Amino acid sequence: MVPPVAPAALPPGGTASGPAKPDPRRSLGPAQALALSGVGLKDEHALPLLEGAAAVDFLEVHAENLMVAGGPRLRRLERLRERLPLSIHGVGLSIGGEAPLDEAHLDALDALLRRFEPRWFSEHLAWSSHGGTWLNDLLPVPYDAATLARVCEHVDRVQTRLRRRILLENPSSYVEFERSTMAEGDFIAEVARRTGCGLLLDVNNAYVSGVNHGRDPWALVEALPAGAIGEIHLAGFAEDRDAAGDRLLIDHHGAPVDTAVWRLYERALARLGPVPTLIERDNDVPPLPVLAGEADRARAAQQAVAAPLQEAA
Ligand SMILES: [Fe+2]
Repeated sequence: MVPPVAPAALPPGGTASGPAKPDPRRSLGPAQALALSGVGLKDEHALPLLEGAAAVDFLEVHAENLMVAGGPRLRRLERLRERLPLSIHGVGLSIGGEAPLDEAHLDALDALLRRFEPRWFSEHLAWSSHGGTWLNDLLPVPYDAATLARVCEHVDRVQTRLRRRILLENPSSYVEFERSTMAEGDFIAEVARRTGCGLLLDVNNAYVSGVNHGRDPWALVEALPAGAIGEIHLAGFAEDRDAAGDRLLIDHHGAPVDTAVWRLYERALARLGPVPTLIERDNDVPPLPVLAGEADRARAAQQAVAAPLQEAA
């Protein structure tokens, strides 16, 4: 087992230029110290979180919601940042796109990361813009040599510009490309190997894509280099049927984490050891205690694999 990926260029709990930030792991016992569990920040949960109404270890925010010069949302996040580490999650870089990366977008990301000094920054292996047109979706790429070279070039550029190691997230997908010559897990593993980037394993995405394409979701998890995985996402999906009557899962982040995804997560932890885990919820958002309850379950699952490791150490 290898420990979770260290946070980019900045040391945990501290910065090159400023004082150390609060680290929730300080007050935990040795078996719990490796287990971290967070929730995606929703506007309606900000005040209860500021009041300490839920015991979560970190918060995740979407970068593109924060690309403004100021205002109450940024001020509120600065106050939360004093209490909890942040993970900043980008959805707009279009790393899988054919066009060069948007340098203005990278500049805005750089300013955001400097301001909030998140412990993790992640983006998707997907594309969302082409020919100057932006699509409100994260679309899959073909897994072939040409795409691999282009994605690696883009990841190199992002890491150079942001001066940090990023985490690249496996996507959920509903279609595949006939021209693909590599399995998804092998493709992502090769991106990590060539660029040195970390990985964000979205277990729900792995399950959704596996079911939609008739593959074993474990094949993706198993192919990823364990030492590169710095964060895990868990979320809920919706279920439909395709034209052939087969199961079609939609990654809608609008339901509790499914039982099958919990099982896949626990199997992944048995391979990986504890990995900081985030509960994603973007639709039909429940009260904070409900999300915190799912985060508690994820923390307990990590502690269950951390305890034997501590005993063996
Ligand atoms: Fe995700």
